[in-house]
Amino acid sequence: MLVVRTRAELRAALASAPRPVGFVPTMGWLHAGHVSLVERARAESATVVMSIFVNPRQFGESADFARYPRSEPRDFAMAEAAGVDIMFAPGVEDVYPAGFDTVVSVGAISRPLEGAARPGHFDGVATVVALLFALVGAERAYFGLKDYQQVAVIRRMALDLALPTEVVPCPTVREPDGLAMSSRNARLSPAGRAVATVIHRALVAGVAAIEGAGQRDADAVRAAMTAVLAQEPAVAVDYVSVADALTLAELAVIHGEAVLSMAVRVDGVRLIDNELATPRP
Ligand code: PAJ
Repeated sequence: MLVVRTRAELRAALASAPRPVGFVPTMGWLHAGHVSLVERARAESATVVMSIFVNPRQFGESADFARYPRSEPRDFAMAEAAGVDIMFAPGVEDVYPAGFDTVVSVGAISRPLEGAARPGHFDGVATVVALLFALVGAERAYFGLKDYQQVAVIRRMALDLALPTEVVPCPTVREPDGLAMSSRNARLSPAGRAVATVIHRALVAGVAAIEGAGQRDADAVRAAMTAVLAQEPAVAVDYVSVADALTLAELAVIHGEAVLSMAVRVDGVRLIDNELATPRP
């Protein structure tokens, strides 16, 4: 695996790289979720590029940015073992050189849910992903549906700006007890780690209400998920959502595919997860 740090080094490495190129953008502290994206990219690409960049522009609280777990030796070993050919690990000044003054801002799809809870977050994500797409010039880029709205925002951006990189959504990888893999899980205490399993139990209860019990009233589904979360007093609920899977608009009545999602805090660590549900005909 070749490690490159600057735009110029990346360009030089890509000049002779066999096509097609598959790209996996990350913020590091790699886990099996990231590895699944690399495996998919590996299967479909002649060259696999990963980026590791903890993007300051997508963090609201600078404390959250500072606390984000980082370890290059660990990440580089995992990436190489997973099949990455080129690792782009730039510094902040390589991504945002002096004078950088552009924001990519996606519209309605970026406003609810994570967009409402974290003002500016998706501007930061869209800006860095647009820039990384331009620098890497990959045929395809791989994103996890764990960040469902992020995939929707990036797809909208790629479509609207006619970006030549195809956005490939990939399934959420979970721990055996259902907790979605996340770099933030590393910050949970042992007790918090146990408590966090309630997130997926709540989503499963919501899916069961829709697909099993035939519930069509979105408020009843929200209540079913909230009741499961309430079994763990150590969980602080940020939002519980039942939204249209395409527009992310909150639903009153569930008719087509819905995305059930939530954001909670455990041990002061903000965790998000989602599941899709389709009502029975
Ligand atoms: P990061 O949180 O490191 O995630 C990198 C990629 O891994 C994202 O596409 C994310 O959805 C995916 N991912 C994370 N956990 C996953 C899981 N449990 N299963 C499957 N995929 C998972 O998302 C970001 O970084 C940043 O916002 C980024 C896109 C790199 C822009 O800075």
